[in-house]
Amino acid sequence: MWRDRRLIDLLGLEHPIIQAPMAGSTTPAMAAAVANAGGLGSIGAATATLDEWRKTVTEAKRLTNRALNVNFFVHEPPTPPEPAQEMRMAVRLEPYYADLGLEVPAPSVPFHPFSTAALNALVDLRPRVASFHFGLPAASAVKALKDAGIRVLSSATTPSEAMKLEAMGADAVIAQGWEAGGHRGTFAAPFAEGQIGTMALVPQMVDAVKIPVIAAGGIADGRGIAAALMLGAAGVQIGTAFLTCTESAAHPLHREALLEAGRPSQVTSVFGGRPARALVNRYMTEMADAEPLPFPMQFSLVTPLARAAVQAGSTDFLPMWAGQAHGLNRSLPAAELMQRLVTEATQRLA
Ligand SMILES: Cc1cc2nc3c(=O)[nH]c(=O)nc-3n(C[C@H](O)[C@H](O)[C@H](O)COP(=O)(O)O)c2cc1C
Repeated sequence: MWRDRRLIDLLGLEHPIIQAPMAGSTTPAMAAAVANAGGLGSIGAATATLDEWRKTVTEAKRLTNRALNVNFFVHEPPTPPEPAQEMRMAVRLEPYYADLGLEVPAPSVPFHPFSTAALNALVDLRPRVASFHFGLPAASAVKALKDAGIRVLSSATTPSEAMKLEAMGADAVIAQGWEAGGHRGTFAAPFAEGQIGTMALVPQMVDAVKIPVIAAGGIADGRGIAAALMLGAAGVQIGTAFLTCTESAAHPLHREALLEAGRPSQVTSVFGGRPARALVNRYMTEMADAEPLPFPMQFSLVTPLARAAVQAGSTDFLPMWAGQAHGLNRSLPAAELMQRLVTEATQRLA
């Protein structure tokens, strides 16, 4: 069915389709449904505690014995901001908090990068794949994962980042185009250099590395999959299109907004302190010129606003991560979306 079997053979799949890890939005039911349909089901573990993600992965493993991926962030832990910066941000946010009858909290660090404890737990759980965002963990950790038979993936936003990941031992690299929803994986290039669209990025990355390249960003149906394979990708990673699946943990207001075709998305740092693509809302527009606290501390000041606002039915402060192709989203069970993606892509390719 698929002429290029590199990714299928490397990861033990039936189809070269990865459901993207999406911290906060992926669920065991989603990952297992994708795995059972022959793709790679992923759990976004980056913002969960070790106990939380271990439970999630254990539940997914109960629902499938096929290929699963667990994903982590490997960002630098934040340096606490200067008091003056913290004060400026508190002053900016105070009117929003006041409107919702709340007080601006002290900033905190809501989640931590991949750790030795996480590595040990991962080796115990032995998913087929571990993937990373913002680079790769230390060489000793990559070796420990590979020694345990776990395949290691990471995202790159330029050909030179892909070459770095290949040299660091990645088994395959995800070419994350500018269209992609969620956080930019840029880790070793000036941010502005990593703003390359998927169509331009994939073939250049394919030429730069020997390991398989997985296309990501703006792929939402079989047409996108076929196009990515034509550009030399060995497979695709699809995020946004799975957010409106039955099994998604995305907030109902986020799902509704995704289904509004034509609603613009933009890359912004004001939610968490690092560039990420989201549907434009009031907070993004009004805070566009603000200097966010270091990643991921800014989230600790936005999450209470988002929670309070959604309770009142408003998306004004909600980070609604979305890729540029969200207008193609369908509301289906994940297994059915997988089936349609496979049928659409294979028909095009034939
Ligand atoms: C809601 C959401 C959350 C995401 N969270 C993560 C994450 O935790 N880890 C990660 O490596 N990538 C994350 N991504 C990025 C995806 O891995 C992928 O690059 C992107 O979804 C591809 O573009 P698309 O959304 O247009 O399909 C996220 C994307 C979205 C839409």
